[in-house]
Amino acid sequence: MTHLPLLAPSILSADFARLGEDIAAVQQHGADWLHVDVMDGHFVPNITLGPAIVQACRTTTDLFLDVHLMVEYPERHIEAFAAAGAGGLTIHTEASPNLHRTLQAIRALGCQAGVAINPGTPAEALQPVLPLVDLVLVMTVNPGYSGQAFLPETLAKVRTIRKWLDAARLPARLQVDGGISAETLPLARAAGADVFVAGNAIFTHPGGVASGLAALRAALAE
Ligand code: DX5
Ligand code: ZN
Repeated sequence: MTHLPLLAPSILSADFARLGEDIAAVQQHGADWLHVDVMDGHFVPNITLGPAIVQACRTTTDLFLDVHLMVEYPERHIEAFAAAGAGGLTIHTEASPNLHRTLQAIRALGCQAGVAINPGTPAEALQPVLPLVDLVLVMTVNPGYSGQAFLPETLAKVRTIRKWLDAARLPARLQVDGGISAETLPLARAAGADVFVAGNAIFTHPGGVASGLAALRAALAE
């Protein structure tokens, strides 16, 4: 299924002292979704945001809140993030021994369900749950930090999952996250991705967020 491509700025690269202003700026300049990176210091080394920030985002924007849970035991936290206003909750295969159960629980909470794989995880790890998800996330860096270099070897998995989704006529979106820039976005798009998360390419663009978003939008048209 062909979807219009979406740009999802990751607020992990925003200025947290001016988060509301940064969110307003990306919304004004054409962000489609807002990506919220939740890290627990266990699944990944870094610690970032929790439900309180999602709730604060919800009060300041009507953008879809795409919440990426890089946490152990995600099933313990989905209810709090749903109540905080998440539109979608994405869990990692590596952190979820009972994938079906947690994905079904996410949908039962009224959120879109997403499943993610790290660069070292084969695409086959999420194949069984493709009919249960609204979003598939192929990490194009090892999760934990913004500003890392894109790993081109992950593109083969994007191509494989695109084929599986198309062959089974499944509507899930296919997202890439990590090191996405005006240079790497076209590679991921050609491989079949249709949602592009970007942190540094937007929030630390030397020309400001308007230029960062414009450069990515132009790269979508390549
Ligand atoms: C990585 C996070 C990403 C990251 C993106 O662990 O999931 O969303 O913040 O940042 P950039 O685009 O700077 O790689
Ligand atoms: Zn992310």
